[in-house]
Amino acid sequence: MNDRMDKIVALCKRRGFIFQSSEIYGGLNGFWDYGPLGVELKRNVKDAWWKDMITNHDEYLVPPGAPQTFSMVGLDCSLIMHPQVWKCSGHYDLFHDQMADCRETKKRYRFDHLSGRWAEHKGKRVFITTDKDADEGYAHVRKRALQFFGLREKEADQVVFGTGPHGGLAAQLGKASPVAHTPTEPVEKLLDIWEADCLANVLAPDAEAVGTLTEPREFNLMFKTTIGALAGDEGTAFLRPETAQGMFVNFKNVLDTQRVRVPFGIAQAGKSFRNEITPRNFTFRSREFEQMEMEFFCHPDQSYEWYKYWRDRRYAWYTNLGLSKEKLILRDHAKDELSHYSVGTADVEYAFPFLEDGKYGELEGIAHRGDFDLRSHMEGKLVKNEKGHLVVELDANGKPKYQGSGRDLTYFDDQTRERYTPHVIEPAAGADRATLAFLCEAYHEDSQPDDTGALQERVVMKLHPKLAPVKAAVFPLVKKIGMPEFALELYREIKAAGIPCVYDQQAAIGKRYRRQDEIGTPFCFTVDGQSIDDKTVTLRDRDTLEQRRIPASNVVEEIAARLKG
Ligand code: GAP
Repeated sequence: MNDRMDKIVALCKRRGFIFQSSEIYGGLNGFWDYGPLGVELKRNVKDAWWKDMITNHDEYLVPPGAPQTFSMVGLDCSLIMHPQVWKCSGHYDLFHDQMADCRETKKRYRFDHLSGRWAEHKGKRVFITTDKDADEGYAHVRKRALQFFGLREKEADQVVFGTGPHGGLAAQLGKASPVAHTPTEPVEKLLDIWEADCLANVLAPDAEAVGTLTEPREFNLMFKTTIGALAGDEGTAFLRPETAQGMFVNFKNVLDTQRVRVPFGIAQAGKSFRNEITPRNFTFRSREFEQMEMEFFCHPDQSYEWYKYWRDRRYAWYTNLGLSKEKLILRDHAKDELSHYSVGTADVEYAFPFLEDGKYGELEGIAHRGDFDLRSHMEGKLVKNEKGHLVVELDANGKPKYQGSGRDLTYFDDQTRERYTPHVIEPAAGADRATLAFLCEAYHEDSQPDDTGALQERVVMKLHPKLAPVKAAVFPLVKKIGMPEFALELYREIKAAGIPCVYDQQAAIGKRYRRQDEIGTPFCFTVDGQSIDDKTVTLRDRDTLEQRRIPASNVVEEIAARLKG
């Protein structure tokens, strides 16, 4: 991570946004706890999503030909579902990564993350790996090569770097002059050069000896658990790796119990679990995280229009809550990137500070999933045949490999008298990743004059007021002449209106403002001598630093108006 990211992580810990899980026992990699401010921030992110998707969703700008109103409803499904769900969805067979273990350091790596370069010195050829990306990866490889061969920087030109399956250039070079190397040269994936016998010449990212990496093997990302006292496969279940399947398996329940018509959406926010091989970048890739997913069921003929609708609408949600358009992109997937079921996917991606310039990390994927999911849960696990059609996967005996539910998950439109399997558009977001992006965007440093006029460094979290964990703070200027009593009364009035608020009478006023700036409190109200006389207070704005007097009786109204905007 870089300097800016280190500061954000430090602030998160210092002010109680995010802590390492089980920290007093040394922490648990890939697991995080949200502190008193973090839990409020993440709840505000999820509430903003829920309101936008369910309670306050509106229907403006619907695709041509679509109804002017449509239903959006919510669910809260169990974390453990019937194992057949994951067999039919494809997660049981397909949801894995290739991983390799290092026998020396006992570390485990995602095989597709390992990259590096052949390096040769005095006839010894080694593939030096790193699990860092691109440019930094090359610099890292070069440094490790020098270390490995026991050379100093000024002897760097004695190392020959090569590419290709068997050392490419390096293998053929013999006594040829060293290859010029620049940090812009890309490293190559271990996967591309991998052959079982070459692992003997591979230096693992954190090892000192060569040949310590095991051959790659499949590793299912679902966490296994056991239900009840049943032993063996019969009792085996999985913690859900996504919330989406809850919506598919309840499609009929929602249809039968609610007055909904296609098109309509079902949404859910909740925990998902993935046994990620290399959790990293703070909460960005965790093993336990929260998703905010919505499945939108629509007529196949309108599905592409709806896909575009949700794609654009979801991008706008992030910018409306403060992410800058310079750092946020909407990237359409290339054909070879699409999941096996998808006919179109776009990602909302953010330029997180832990990434190199020009790189983006995924916040949300908006996928056109066709009828893959409902059909899978009717018929059994689907695969694409040679004509590109989805068909039930068969076992060696010609029977469905995994049996579907056999339930009818089609939709009958009683107005057009048409029966069909709806297509699905899925905006799938991560609550932790969105929270992290809002935290990164909010972090600012500037300098402001203190009470004596001297410039003081200020850290200010410019969180959107809707997301800020604390909305208002009330300060008596000094602890006398009735100011604390007046301020406490105002504080209680704000709290009674359901607005998160703090009361602070400790330290100089400038210090109190900075304490609130650092946690992103947008509005501070100061009670001074004049307040006692004319019942006004000073409202200080976190971002503009503007201060103006308003009647104390208008404070709640003023905050509510600003939170609405
Ligand atoms: N139902 C589709 C689905 O789950 P996904 O792209 O695997 O799609 C959706 O996940 C979102 O969940 C991602 O865009 C990301 O925001 C979040 N997410 C996925 N894996 C995560 C992880 N290991 N840690 C934190 N968030 C994760």
